[in-house]
Amino acid sequence: MSEQQVLLKVENLCQYFKINKAVDDVSFDIKKGEVFGLVGESGCGKTTTGRSIIKLYDITSGNIYFNGKRIAAGTGSYRNAINAAREEMKTASPERKAELKAIIAEQREQIKAAKRDHFAKENRSVTQIQMIFQDPIASLDPRMTVYETIAEGLKIQGEKDKSVIDEKVYKVLERVGLVREHAGRYPHEFSGGQRQRIGVARAVVMEPELIIADEPVSALDVSIQAQVINLLNDLRHELGLTILFIAHDLSVVKYFSDRIGVMYYGKMVELATSDELFAHPMHPYTRALLSAIPLPDPAYEKNRVREKYNPLEAHDYTVDKPRMREVTPGHFVQCNDAEFARYQQELKA
Ligand SMILES: Nc1ncnc2c1ncn2[C@@H]1O[C@H](COP(=O)(O)OP(=O)(O)O)[C@@H](O)[C@H]1O
Ligand SMILES: [Mg+2]
Repeated sequence: MSEQQVLLKVENLCQYFKINKAVDDVSFDIKKGEVFGLVGESGCGKTTTGRSIIKLYDITSGNIYFNGKRIAAGTGSYRNAINAAREEMKTASPERKAELKAIIAEQREQIKAAKRDHFAKENRSVTQIQMIFQDPIASLDPRMTVYETIAEGLKIQGEKDKSVIDEKVYKVLERVGLVREHAGRYPHEFSGGQRQRIGVARAVVMEPELIIADEPVSALDVSIQAQVINLLNDLRHELGLTILFIAHDLSVVKYFSDRIGVMYYGKMVELATSDELFAHPMHPYTRALLSAIPLPDPAYEKNRVREKYNPLEAHDYTVDKPRMREVTPGHFVQCNDAEFARYQQELKA
């Protein structure tokens, strides 16, 4: 079989806000038909990553490609290169000055190209990417019926034929486990789980290639969570969906994700297939996340020790700096030289 086709490629994504680096140099790709889990504690930058992909932000730097086409690009790295060249210019020799001028011109071209792609009209609303939000109450308009909510995107997309819209809305309602009769009702008439099914229907009706599900079950009762996860899993197989599944703990994504990326404070710290990540977690933060998952095994539970992650204790990055490295094929860990050597030793042991 040939390499699975890459649907989404996130390359060195940075999203800096005034006071913090919400996402800092994050890279990953999602292959067609894959479920990619993005995990990390609250505030680590998961939602910002999702919102950058659906172009709710003008990203600081980096590139996002969808089906091989650049849909978002930031200009920060090019601006930095220009500023550095200008600074060097002050004391440079005449020959070096000529080189620096060429560098600045080249970076200006990059900025132009980035802006052209980022603001391209056809990229403004990438309807092939849809988002399901964490809080189904906040994300549904209380004054709109289920029908109106689900039909809205189709209408914005330009569909005018009422019979086409009707058919799509009723079909998707059934597909997510609701019924036609629900179409005329308002969000407050539904339970939390049903509301999230409406959120799923609103996304799926657009026939997206990629769904970003941002903690879609975090606000639901534990008993309901599995139902919504199963629904997404069924839809994924029926419709051949690709899903970026965001969660704050590993237990939710474990059985559902093909690959998992772990984020900590704006950085990706580990990325591997789901099986590999659970079998050989390497980064101390991943280990801490794993140690927090209870298992229905009394013997295991009795001995389970919750590990805490304190970056200042876990690493010495004063001289030997970390970067993302591939420790075994497809298994990437944020680590420095010393840690890289140790992780490889541990695997051999
Ligand atoms: N629009 C914004 N303006 C400023 N800071 C933001 C904005 N959105 C998020 N942040 C900050 O960025 C960081 C990452 O937030 P977020 O992506 O929502 O994390 P997560 O989804 O993992 O909980 C947090 O510190 C948050 O406070
Ligand atoms: Mg979030």
